[in-house]
This record gives sequence, structure tokens and C-alpha cells, in this order.
Amino acid sequence: MSSLTTTEVIDVHHWNDSLFSFRTQREDSLRFKNGQFVMIGLEVEGKPLMRAYSIASPNYEEHLEFFSIKVQDGPLTSRLQHLKPGDQIMVSRKPTGTLVLDDLLPGENLYLFSTGTGLAPFLSVIQDPETYERYNKIILMHGVRHVSELAYADVIAQELPKHEYLGEDIAEKLIYYPTVTREEFRNQGRITDLVESGKLFEDIGLPPLDPKRDRAMICGSPAMLDDISAMLDTRGFAISPKMGVPGDYVIERAFVEK
Ligand code: A2P
Repeated sequence: MSSLTTTEVIDVHHWNDSLFSFRTQREDSLRFKNGQFVMIGLEVEGKPLMRAYSIASPNYEEHLEFFSIKVQDGPLTSRLQHLKPGDQIMVSRKPTGTLVLDDLLPGENLYLFSTGTGLAPFLSVIQDPETYERYNKIILMHGVRHVSELAYADVIAQELPKHEYLGEDIAEKLIYYPTVTREEFRNQGRITDLVESGKLFEDIGLPPLDPKRDRAMICGSPAMLDDISAMLDTRGFAISPKMGVPGDYVIERAFVEK
């Protein structure tokens, strides 16, 4: 069986000029852990052009959802952004990735640190019932430059607390903390600065980061991954050394320019 399958786009949503998301059909045989990614792409000049994309939908949904930037001269996203329902797209049959609950040690609070489209895997993780079984509070930070980039803000803040099965857990345990760096907003500044200054903890009413109690997942640009990892390392957090061996935190390095 080929490792690539072709599947149909069923919905496309444009958040602003630079961000969009889309849903595709899902093969029954495609199984994944929430937080994992697959390779997706299109055939360009007779060859598959594939990039790693986190699956933003939880693994019990019938469809797959992806969240993408639009880069006008990006080899793949310059094309992907024109997707319409009914179009075909290629999806690999091998989900993988490090942002999975199984690679974290037990703890009290789970911090999900994301910037830009790094939010995608955490959309899946916050819709996983296991997340709420394992942790008391789940703090989802999403850092962006402009307010219009706060994709999924209403889904997270308004719709998920009304989720048919998970609504109660989400309302009680999920703390959504969007922050904007280049425009006025109720929360401002980089994630790193909000943690270092303690402003985050004042705002959410939790104690500062501590590896005795807290666990974390990080997804964003290479510089953001480095800075947040360094911030956690300084505080005594141990990264999961490899897939299948749990640690205090996990990061995903699979994502490159689209
Ligand atoms: P800033 O506006 O101060 O650069 P980008 O689009 O460049 O990936 O940035 C997305 C968001 O992540 C922006 O709010 C940006 O802040 C922030 N950011 C960029 N680099 C880092 C970093 N090294 N650590 C924390 N936040 C970062």
C-alpha cells in the first residue's frame, strides 16, 4: 500500500490574509494520537510536494483539520491557499510527532505554549478527554503579532466550553491565554516575557512554573522553541529525551517554511 493517499477537501476557512484552515475527509484506517502531524501536499510538476502539518482536529472526529499560513511565494502554501471544497489533496498514512500526552510525566498543570500556526496541535490536545483526566489545569497560550491572527479564539473561548461531551471539563480546566505583540490587546507581550515577569501567573492565578508540578508542550518557530526550552531548562524542567520516554516537557521541530 502506498504511504500516500488522496483525500477530498470538504471545507475551507480563511481567518485573514495570512492564515486559513481546511478540513478533509479521513480514511477509516488513519489512526493518530492527538498532537501528532502528517505530511500533506499536492502534486506539483508530476511530483508530490509534501510538508509536515499538525492535525488540528481530535482523533475521534470523522474529518481531519489543518491550520496553515499563506506564503505568497511558498512552494506549497501559495497553492494550498486556493483549495476549494471538492479538491483533492495528498495525505501520508503515517502520523508521527512528539507533542503527545504519553511523552509527559504526570503532573498538576499542563502548559501549551504556541505561536502562530503552532497552535494547531494543541487544538487537538485540548479536545482530548485524556488531557482532562491527567491534568487539573490546562493553560493554552497563543502568541501572535496582530489580533487578526488569533485564529480559533472564538472556537476555544465560546464553542468548546459547550462541547457535547467535554464542555464541563473544558469550562472548568482550560485557561485560554491569547497574547499579541504588535497591537493593543487585553494581553500583550511575548510568552517568554509574560512568564519571566510573572504577569502570566498573576493573570491566571497559578504559581510560577515549577517542574515539581507543571508540564509543558511547545510549538512555534525555531527561535521560539529555543527560547522557551531555555526558559524551562533554567527552571529545572527535563525535556523528553526521545519519543516514548516521558519528560517534563516536549517540543516539535518538524515544521519548516511552507
Ligand atoms: P514579536 O512580535 O515580538 O516578534 P512570528 O510570526 O515571527 O513567528 O511571531 C509570532 C509571535 O511569536 C509574535 O508575537 C512574536 O513576537 C512571537 N515570537 C517571535 N519569536 C519569539 C521568541 N523567540 N520567543 C517568544 N515569542 C516569540
